[in-house]
Amino acid sequence: MIALSHDPSGGRLLASLRALREPPVLRAPVVARELRTPRLLLRPYRLTDAADWMRIEADARIRCGLGWPLRTEREALRHLRDRTRHVSLSVPGDLLVLAVERDGHVIGDVSLHLRTTAAETRTAEIGWLQLTSACGHGYATEAARAMLGLAFRELRAAIVTAVIDRTNETSAALAARLGFIAAHETGRRVTVVLTAVSAGIPEVPTARLRQGT
Ligand SMILES: CC(C)(COP(=O)(O)OP(=O)(O)OC[C@H]1O[C@@H](n2cnc3c(N)ncnc32)[C@H](O)[C@@H]1OP(=O)(O)O)[C@@H](O)C(=O)NCCC(=O)NCCS
Repeated sequence: MIALSHDPSGGRLLASLRALREPPVLRAPVVARELRTPRLLLRPYRLTDAADWMRIEADARIRCGLGWPLRTEREALRHLRDRTRHVSLSVPGDLLVLAVERDGHVIGDVSLHLRTTAAETRTAEIGWLQLTSACGHGYATEAARAMLGLAFRELRAAIVTAVIDRTNETSAALAARLGFIAAHETGRRVTVVLTAVSAGIPEVPTARLRQGT
């Protein structure tokens, strides 16, 4: 038995033991809700999106970019149902997905995967996909910016990452447009990272680092 009342680490030992026992759950889960941008509505998926979703599943560029298999109709509908359930971030591994709607139709989605929850290093990984027929108008950029707002303002992420296949030029271009910079390479993939300041969200309080000390 450790005599915690005489803890020479000044409480750090107790904090470490507590962290081992308690799962790293966010005190306030981030729950999916509608977000509006000048041209788009972002909102959780619904089962009634089936027709639009089947177009997404049939889009070869999306499948190729995400490494998705060609699914049967039944499998694709099950995939949609799973996506309707990814609506909150609480523990590492949780996924939040918002369908991107334009003129009443889903043209793609943006997602956030919660990776770590500690306030100092909280990290989420963003993902995006868009129907080829909707590409080239800046919609994915607009949708991703809205999701980054949620990541930095509501989730209070310290860093947002994206993992991009080296051959995926449109995804790399989108990340660069949003201000992401390359941070790490693992074989076929590049990890890019973004902070609130480089995303142009300066109202998130950030301490000034002293230069040259
Ligand atoms: C990645 C992906 C979402 C990017 O789509 P996109 O159409 O290039 O992105 P946007 O909708 O932001 O459009 C950007 C294009 O519109 C142009 N554009 C027009 N109006 C614009 C505006 N208001 N704002 C920004 N860009 C605008 C840009 O110049 C750019 O054109 P360019 O490619 O000729 O330079 C899409 O290619 C995709 O879904 N790929 C398959 C899935 C995938 O790979 N996901 C990522 C896995 S890591």
